[in-house]
Amino acid sequence: MTLLAVAVAGRGLVDPDEPVVFADDEALIRGRAAFETLRVYAGVPFRLDSHLARLAASCGRIGVEAPDPEECRSLATLALGRATEPDGVLRFYRTAGREQTDSPGLFVLVSSLPPDLEELRARGSKLVSLLGVRAEVPWLLGGVKSTSYAVNMAAAAEARARGADDAVFVTEDGLVLEGPVTNVWWRRGSTLFTPSLDLGVLAGVTRETLLEVAPAHGYDVREGRFPLVELQGADEAFTSSSVRELMPVVELDGVRLERGEAATELQAALRSAALG
Ligand SMILES: Cc1ncc(COP(=O)(O)O)c(C=O)c1O
Repeated sequence: MTLLAVAVAGRGLVDPDEPVVFADDEALIRGRAAFETLRVYAGVPFRLDSHLARLAASCGRIGVEAPDPEECRSLATLALGRATEPDGVLRFYRTAGREQTDSPGLFVLVSSLPPDLEELRARGSKLVSLLGVRAEVPWLLGGVKSTSYAVNMAAAAEARARGADDAVFVTEDGLVLEGPVTNVWWRRGSTLFTPSLDLGVLAGVTRETLLEVAPAHGYDVREGRFPLVELQGADEAFTSSSVRELMPVVELDGVRLERGEAATELQAALRSAALG
């Protein structure tokens, strides 16, 4: 992704090549920051209110004061006004601020979309299952979008090293969780399945959108605790995230999965929800 614009609280638009974080910001030295990533369609951020609500919830969980939503909105407007592309990725970062101070930071980035998304959607994604943590206790920060994502990035790298495109986390006792940056779905007949939030998976805004639109397309949805064998035996599977939208899964742990109509239909439904 190419960085197109940056806006910083108290400073406004900043040259994307200028540094914006102090060396002792706890975001950097301890990973204490919350963030949000959302997609911009034709200049309009999709479900901005839901993302700002999740940002506030994440801040609460890591002991950082939530940013003022109005300030977030105006920084986003500034940055989007500067970006040259109508479609892109908008990110908010709320940092804990400098060590020994209580003054959190806030900045907003606008970047271009990753260039290879449509190619991946066309060929379908290969997943490998990797051990993840059922983060049900508060200090494991399940469901929190914090910048402590090194584990998620390492899992994605491990998946690529094994010849796949992405990972799906599975608990020690074999329950499906989520991907490093996606929620996971599968279909049997006209029922869609996705792991429930009480497992500590992130409450994806795309997940929430799909839960809303799926019934109108003839699908009922079951959220719950499901073993990996259910995903392995599915009629089709896909992942969801703001940037990647719906990604059909064509392989799991080296075993082929059929493509199906739900991923295509719901991808179209997501686009129409976004484009109005
Ligand atoms: C761990 C994790 N799960 C799920 C998601 C999908 O969430 P959303 O649909 O809000 O992008 C993300 C997004 O980055 C994520 O990091």
